Amino acid sequence: MQTQAINNQEATGHQALRAVPAKSSLEAYNLADLRQQARKILPKGLFEYVDRGTENELALRTLRAALDRVMFRPHVFVDVSGRSTSTDFFGKPSAMPLAVAPTGAAGLLWFDGEIEVARAAQNMGVPFILSTASIVSMERVAAEAGGRLWFQLYMWSDRHLSMELVDRAKAAGYEALIVTVDTPVSPNREYNKHNGFSLPMRISRRNVLDVALHPRWFFNVLARYLMRSGVPSLENYPTSMRVRLDEPQTPFKCDSLNWDDLRQLRKKWNGPLIVKGILRADDAVRAYECGADAIVVSNHGGRNLDASVPPFTVLPDIIDTLAKRMDVWVDGGMSRGSDVVKAIAMGAKGALVGRGPLWGVACDGEPGARLALQIYKDEMDRVMAYVGASSVAALDRDLLHMA
Ligand SMILES: Cc1cc2nc3c(=O)[nH]c(=O)nc-3n(C[C@H](O)[C@H](O)[C@H](O)COP(=O)(O)O)c2cc1C
Repeated sequence: MQTQAINNQEATGHQALRAVPAKSSLEAYNLADLRQQARKILPKGLFEYVDRGTENELALRTLRAALDRVMFRPHVFVDVSGRSTSTDFFGKPSAMPLAVAPTGAAGLLWFDGEIEVARAAQNMGVPFILSTASIVSMERVAAEAGGRLWFQLYMWSDRHLSMELVDRAKAAGYEALIVTVDTPVSPNREYNKHNGFSLPMRISRRNVLDVALHPRWFFNVLARYLMRSGVPSLENYPTSMRVRLDEPQTPFKCDSLNWDDLRQLRKKWNGPLIVKGILRADDAVRAYECGADAIVVSNHGGRNLDASVPPFTVLPDIIDTLAKRMDVWVDGGMSRGSDVVKAIAMGAKGALVGRGPLWGVACDGEPGARLALQIYKDEMDRVMAYVGASSVAALDRDLLHMA
């Protein structure tokens, strides 16, 4: 791999010589370009699994509509020549107010894809959140990617199994724990059924044809897994539950999840504890009272409850109600740097981006995921210049206009 030494001062806050891997050769000027290229490479079932929402896709559509309703009222005559997108999360620097959202698919889009996306996040100086549902185990990601790693937890009805995961995350050195609370039961994604894309994975005429029409994905991803160790599995599952993806799985279902679980997690986890999937101010306050350090206002990228309110619409109320008692993050539908800038100006501490880095990794592994993050950064930088904000701290609600 072609490398060059650069001075990566912004991400670390101090002088450090780092080897930076070669740039992606992809021709993509925005995240929509990456999505289009990923669409050509991936089997339809897999592409739609990442891209789409649930049921009538109302939540997916309104995510974008809610972001588009917010516009900027820029300041002029501001010297922005020394601007920076850098910020800090839990007392440590981050090159931009953004982290890579947990997604259980990177390892299906690229061989050992979670390692590639985590490396991209490290190279861009932002945190990477590993999903419970990843193909690569949390231990391998920690050993082979490094960087700032946070672990996302799905609880099972058998709490002991979930607590084992928390112990493993602690032992592997994960910095923060994010518990996702918006998935009490499996979502109703009918397009997956139409596409024959399901767990356990089944061989059917339709999906054999789908894979045959996408040979690049077959040779680069599936064939490599088959040659290394056979059909992959969800490697974070405890050994008693870990099976290949073509065998019946224990689903992520915990419809008995309650506030006491959050209190138990607080007792167990000493580092930052984040609750992902809150859409109401009263729940946000409750999470704070149970000891959470931060929340992510999220409807799971429009993938779970179809008639759920767009996170961006409820964000100001949640932020105001919490009145700076804890950090508030937001995610869903952010496909431009301007979307992240809007979130921060509204008062969010940071944004999570899910599909963007996934399109990048599907196209080109680590360089592709890094390109996706670089696009967010370049777009944020440009928007900050336009609105007259030299720093993340200078972004506030006064810059926003609700259309
Ligand atoms: C393919 C895919 C898989 C996901 N898997 C998880 C997961 O395992 N855990 C989780 O908390 N959220 C998961 N999410 C939701 C993301 O963390 C995040 O909330 C969402 O993707 C944000 O929207 P965006 O993709 O439009 O940026 C997933 C999202 C996608 C697209």
